[in-house]
Amino acid sequence: MQNLAINGGPRAIEATLPSFRDASGRTFGQEELDALNEVIESGKLSFLTGTKTAEFERAFAERFGVKHAVAVANGTAALHTAVTYLNPEPGDEIILSPVTDVGTVIPIIAQLAIPVFADVDPITQNIDAASIEMNITSRTRAIMVTHVYGHPADMDAIMAVARKHDLFVIEDCAQAHLAYYKGKLCGTIGDIACFSFQQSKHMTTGDGGMVISNEDERFGRGIRHCSDKGWPRERGGRDHLFLATNYHMTELQAAVGVEQLKKLDQFVSDRITAADRLTELLSDVAISPVLPLAGTVGVYFFYSFRLDPSKLSVPINDVMKALVAEGIDGFIGYPGQTPLYKYPVVREHKTFGQSGFPFTLPNARQIDYSSNLCPDAEQACRETVCMWWTDRMKEHHLQQIASAIRKVVSAYLKSPVVD
Ligand SMILES: Cc1ncc(COP(=O)(O)O)c(C=O)c1O
Repeated sequence: MQNLAINGGPRAIEATLPSFRDASGRTFGQEELDALNEVIESGKLSFLTGTKTAEFERAFAERFGVKHAVAVANGTAALHTAVTYLNPEPGDEIILSPVTDVGTVIPIIAQLAIPVFADVDPITQNIDAASIEMNITSRTRAIMVTHVYGHPADMDAIMAVARKHDLFVIEDCAQAHLAYYKGKLCGTIGDIACFSFQQSKHMTTGDGGMVISNEDERFGRGIRHCSDKGWPRERGGRDHLFLATNYHMTELQAAVGVEQLKKLDQFVSDRITAADRLTELLSDVAISPVLPLAGTVGVYFFYSFRLDPSKLSVPINDVMKALVAEGIDGFIGYPGQTPLYKYPVVREHKTFGQSGFPFTLPNARQIDYSSNLCPDAEQACRETVCMWWTDRMKEHHLQQIASAIRKVVSAYLKSPVVD
């Protein structure tokens, strides 16, 4: 116990770990710089006159083997584009996981649909098909599936429920670039999929996003129009067919995106190799890493593991503080120590003025978001340590991370009961 950094002992992690926050944990090269220069020198910073956005979209669609890719400003914008495409009636319901980023629920509420939270699988923490089915009503229109931590959700079971009830499936691949479910790329299994290229993601354009799909048009609209002011530019002239915002990606983002995409396979494989090695190093420590389902390839957005509070001699937050003192870059619980529905935007209906729309719409389903709607999600948020991960973790980093976890967990494990 004396030895812990939190008690004044030496840190287990001497070096600074590579971090997604700066160049230490991101891989940019001359290629990105040259591409940015090219755009600046061309003077064409918008897709309207430049070529990089179209090039990025073509390359992304090709890598995923889909017909369409639409580049947008960020991952939330990608999901908003998908929900706008679905065109729900006010009060329609969209089922999602409570263990995900707020960028999922914002578009649902913004389109006046009701977010309905299904519980997660206690092992993978991904949305659970049986819980989805229990939450379906006559107003349900879609399921939004986040592949959380980069590990694929159980898509066979989810797609079976979706097809049975004729529901649209939005895959949220913001954390799951090049993850595979039974040989299929995540993002190509549902009806539409959304990616984020925010600073912490497997590839980055700072902020940025992509929507992919094989659909040409449905719900009376085209996907591209849903991030472009409802504007069918391809017809020429100016027309605005329906309510949709402007979510264009800039040519600067797209220029970086084209180059990052070329390196994505390497980034992802380096993340996986490092994570697998850490799992091996931690095999004798009393933690439960969150691992991909059998038959899937998870791509480790975070490296996450469960701690069992009943086996700890101190509150889990104290354990986390000790881990941070050793140099671990992480936190307890995703999206926080409570699931998504407990945030004021959902629980207290902090939406449009004082109206509480869409939650207060006369025909909307009433859900008490302050109750423990999803027990497995609640528990996951209380017990999961999420460590920021990058493709730049090397053997000496992994050795030090493992030492830090081993040191802290063994210091705080309750002594074994002796009969
Ligand atoms: C699972 C998930 N969904 C959606 C988003 C939203 O993406 P962005 O931050 O690019 O808007 C994120 C990003 O953090 C995410 O991790």
